[in-house]
Amino acid sequence: MRADRYVSSQRTDLSRSDVKKLIRMGKVTVNGEKVRTPDEHIPDGAEVCVDGVPITYREHIYIMLNKPQGYVCSTREGASPTVLELVPPGLRRRGLFPAGRLDKDTEGFVLITDDGALAHDMLSPVRHVPKTYYVRLEKPYEEKYAELFAEGMIIDGNEKCLPAESSPDPADPLACTIILHEGKFHQVKRMFEAVGNKVIFLKRIRVGDLDLDPNLPLGRCLEIMHKDVEKLLCR
Ligand code: URA
Repeated sequence: MRADRYVSSQRTDLSRSDVKKLIRMGKVTVNGEKVRTPDEHIPDGAEVCVDGVPITYREHIYIMLNKPQGYVCSTREGASPTVLELVPPGLRRRGLFPAGRLDKDTEGFVLITDDGALAHDMLSPVRHVPKTYYVRLEKPYEEKYAELFAEGMIIDGNEKCLPAESSPDPADPLACTIILHEGKFHQVKRMFEAVGNKVIFLKRIRVGDLDLDPNLPLGRCLEIMHKDVEKLLCR
């Protein structure tokens, strides 16, 4: 592993050229010895310090975004702004992408990462990682929905859904939560349409066993640390 890559993995607030400058200034040490050039090799298990403070190599980054309406879950720039534009400079790195899609008008938890393997597992139709949504409806929630969703309903004539769990919001007759174990296109909206209702507000509030941080304002990001990354896959 090159010294500049190692330092950049931890100090995401610095650009690659800032990291190179730090190294040339002699502020990075490996096992107590100053690193001289950015391409110097860091041996496995070495103690690496920046300004005397130990750092560790982080291969990937995991970002929780509280997505506002109006942003698309895409890496490609188009007519609408993408969720990547909401990632603050300190958390940006090459290769970031949103793991999974929320509709442009859906709010809530989007994972942004550069870890393709974790995203694959999280979205895999085989793993059935649960995603929980808060839903507000046009007409009151009806008890019968829970049974229909639990059976695994058919939407749009021929698309069979996996069983889903829904429960009413005791404080609001128009609201409920629903847990899906897959991610079909517009699935929550289409399931409620199939039972004769309409979604007027949708927010993803949980992925796997990890809740959207209730203190995270709309449009803001926070970095998910290792113990919580495991929860994304319910491990
Ligand atoms: N289901 C939907 O209908 N929309 C979303 O954004 C997510 C799930």
